[in-house]
Amino acid sequence: PRRIIIDTDPGQDDAMAILLALGSPEEIDLLGIVAVAGNVPLARTAENARKVCELAGRPDVKVFAGCDRPLAHALVTAEHVHGKTGLDGIELPPPRMPLQDRHGVDFIVETLRREPPGTVTLCALGPLTNLATAFSRAPDIVDRVEEVVLMGGAYFEVGNITPAAEFNIYVDPEAAEIVFGSGVKLTVMPLDMTHKVLVTAERLRAFRDFGTRLGEAIAGWLDFFERFDVEKYGSVGGPLHDPTVIAYLIRPELFSGRFVNVEIETRSALTRGMTVADWWGVTDRPANAMFMGDADAEGFFALLTERVRRLG
Ligand code: BDR
Ligand code: CA
Repeated sequence: PRRIIIDTDPGQDDAMAILLALGSPEEIDLLGIVAVAGNVPLARTAENARKVCELAGRPDVKVFAGCDRPLAHALVTAEHVHGKTGLDGIELPPPRMPLQDRHGVDFIVETLRREPPGTVTLCALGPLTNLATAFSRAPDIVDRVEEVVLMGGAYFEVGNITPAAEFNIYVDPEAAEIVFGSGVKLTVMPLDMTHKVLVTAERLRAFRDFGTRLGEAIAGWLDFFERFDVEKYGSVGGPLHDPTVIAYLIRPELFSGRFVNVEIETRSALTRGMTVADWWGVTDRPANAMFMGDADAEGFFALLTERVRRLG
């Protein structure tokens, strides 16, 4: 199986990504989860990650808290999308499983230094603050990473937090610039692709039809999370961003894109956090990222439903 660390700011769609990973033990070996400040502040994302593990019957998963603010700017959160707790839509009890003592960035650095080179993949589902901090503090780990697969950015679809920028990149563009410029093998799941992966009423019903507490929780989350995008875009369902990162590791053939140059805008007030993807190859800047543009939505939801159902 692919050995992964999930770096995340749960978030209902982050929660679905964690569940997909936990439901796929043949393909995914989850070494740990590191929380980052993003959708909601760090205290909540660190708590939400543990709630999700407990809901999945996996209180043994190691959950760490990482950075509580972006590298260079004040934190911007997204309660308008995810609700006050970050996981609105269903009440869950406070987690009983512990938060690990070590800082999440130290966990990332130590794991990459300990494990054989090229055997650990970093899955980033929130702002890139933890990854960038680890890469800056310990540049030797960059070559040891198997791959970074991240949800973030947008090019044709453009922004969801400003007209030009996607939320995860917008919150910490300086961190994104470090990761995109690091030379690491990089695969990007931007809004261009996630906006083709919509939670229709029928796909939502499939979770409720589990008839389990987990199915009910998922339906509650997705119903809440959907509302925002359905109202905003007038689409048949909201995009389910973050689990595409995990699905890509299990079934890469569900996704297609181009290996292109992607640069991060950090200076312009108007387009801060924009991922400028050279999709048409009009510059000679070297390609640094596989930038996904399309997905097999039916295949993706079939995989997600099947794997999450296994968790009971
Ligand atoms: C991204 O931002 C967050 O709100 C979601 O969890 C996802 O990671 C989408 O722009
Ligand atoms: Ca997220």
